[in-house]
Amino acid sequence: MIKQAIIPLAGLGTRLLPLTSVIPKELLPINGKPGLEYILEECYQSGIKEVILIISKKKKSIKDYFYNDAFYKKLIKNKGDKRLKLEYKKILKFKKMVKFVYQNTPAGTGDAVLKCRKLIKSKYFLMLMPDDLIINKNCSKSLINLHRKYKSSVIASKKVKKSDVSRWGIFKAKKLNRKNFLIKDVVEKPRISSAPSNYAVIGRYILPKKIFNVLKSQKRGKNGEIHITDSIRTLILAKNKFIGHIFAGKYLDCGTMSGYINSTLKISRL
Ligand code: G1P
Repeated sequence: MIKQAIIPLAGLGTRLLPLTSVIPKELLPINGKPGLEYILEECYQSGIKEVILIISKKKKSIKDYFYNDAFYKKLIKNKGDKRLKLEYKKILKFKKMVKFVYQNTPAGTGDAVLKCRKLIKSKYFLMLMPDDLIINKNCSKSLINLHRKYKSSVIASKKVKKSDVSRWGIFKAKKLNRKNFLIKDVVEKPRISSAPSNYAVIGRYILPKKIFNVLKSQKRGKNGEIHITDSIRTLILAKNKFIGHIFAGKYLDCGTMSGYINSTLKISRL
């Protein structure tokens, strides 16, 4: 059973400056609530019991967001506001789920994940990238079901424009059926000329615990960072089974300014 999830949140958020010079991008509101809440709700609804949030000292306000009990209690007592009570209840629900781990020097997603190695208990865990919002259908839940069916690792995927492949991890795929494929290889942000397909890695992964052993000796890759993609590649080439799943929900890229603005517009029209 997959009961634990990891969310790397220690990135600098440079694509969303100047907002992110004072507010962590994951707390920026999307249609009135922080992007992070959408991701936590997805975890909760898919049966996850513990979410490990990887933050940095600079992003301590993410932790504060869940630890404002005194503030809420005082306001609720004075105002008796119904909306406030519901919000507080929601925050408490998330507070019970979250744990914090620190990555103070941003050295890539792989390095962030490695910080959680002592906390992961079972053979597989879920990882979610906070920039990738998926609405209308719970993508994590679909991946967990597929993990049960194929008894393997699973990664969400989406076909992207050929001209955009260098923004993503890209799969080499062997089709199994309409929505799923066997991953034969994966390359982090390839050039158009060397991309093995236009099936992109989207930020929902079910990964095996043994990836920590690979990560321990993972060399720095693209832009000097330690990429989770490179460790996944090592596992695939060592014949570990990884399934790619073309998810059904609607994808919203919140990691760029135009994508972030667009996501609020899209969600507000639901
Ligand atoms: C990361 C991964 C990349 C993946 C992407 C999905 O990139 O390294 O393989 O395609 O998330 O959002 P980042 O968005 O951190 O540049």
